[in-house]
Amino acid sequence: MQSFLFILSALFWFTASNALPSGVFQDMKARTIVPVPDTCGNSSDAVPLFATSGGPIHDFVLDTSTVAITSLVGPQGFTFVGVSARVFTTQETSTMPLYQIYLVDGNSDITDHIYTMSETERNLALEVGYRDGGITGYIYPTQICGSIPYYRLDNSAATEHFYTVSEAERESTLAEGGWSDEGIVGYVLPPNCTE
Ligand SMILES: *[C@@H]1O[C@H](CO)[C@@H](O)[C@H](O)[C@H]1NC(C)=O
Repeated sequence: MQSFLFILSALFWFTASNALPSGVFQDMKARTIVPVPDTCGNSSDAVPLFATSGGPIHDFVLDTSTVAITSLVGPQGFTFVGVSARVFTTQETSTMPLYQIYLVDGNSDITDHIYTMSETERNLALEVGYRDGGITGYIYPTQICGSIPYYRLDNSAATEHFYTVSEAERESTLAEGGWSDEGIVGYVLPPNCTE
């Protein structure tokens, strides 16, 4: 009997507490809203990823360092291509490393640069003789925060990889022949964004 009364009073309390005027209930809810955590890197921190190509041995090199790029253009006969994308130099929210691995031929010339977010691909390349070039930058593994696909093409006869955010350039390069589509490396910020 006592427990029956307890249940009955609990039921009454539950019904009464849910019968609050709707405005009051909404106010109570509003006070408990938790801010949504920031899922994007700070785009003001993104820097240009410069591209240079050519040299005695066809190669396409990407670097955020103007010193590294300048050492290839001129002294080593490379041509400055321009800003290929924008990336982060430190790991910001939701970004992951973009690894660089490169191949050196018998004449000590660097002949190929591979940029990848895949640790598996990086390790496989290291096993077949590529060298570890460290981390080039940090980019998004999925298309979020205003990022766009970074396409990778491979010319196995020339031992060269090419990278672009431009779908038109990707199509025209494939149309030249000798190139195969290697899909999307990851998602970068547009090269020309002034945000
Ligand atoms: C983003 O970075 C800029 C430049 O470093 C800084 O001034 C700004 O406060 C940062 N914004 C946020 C939300 O952290």
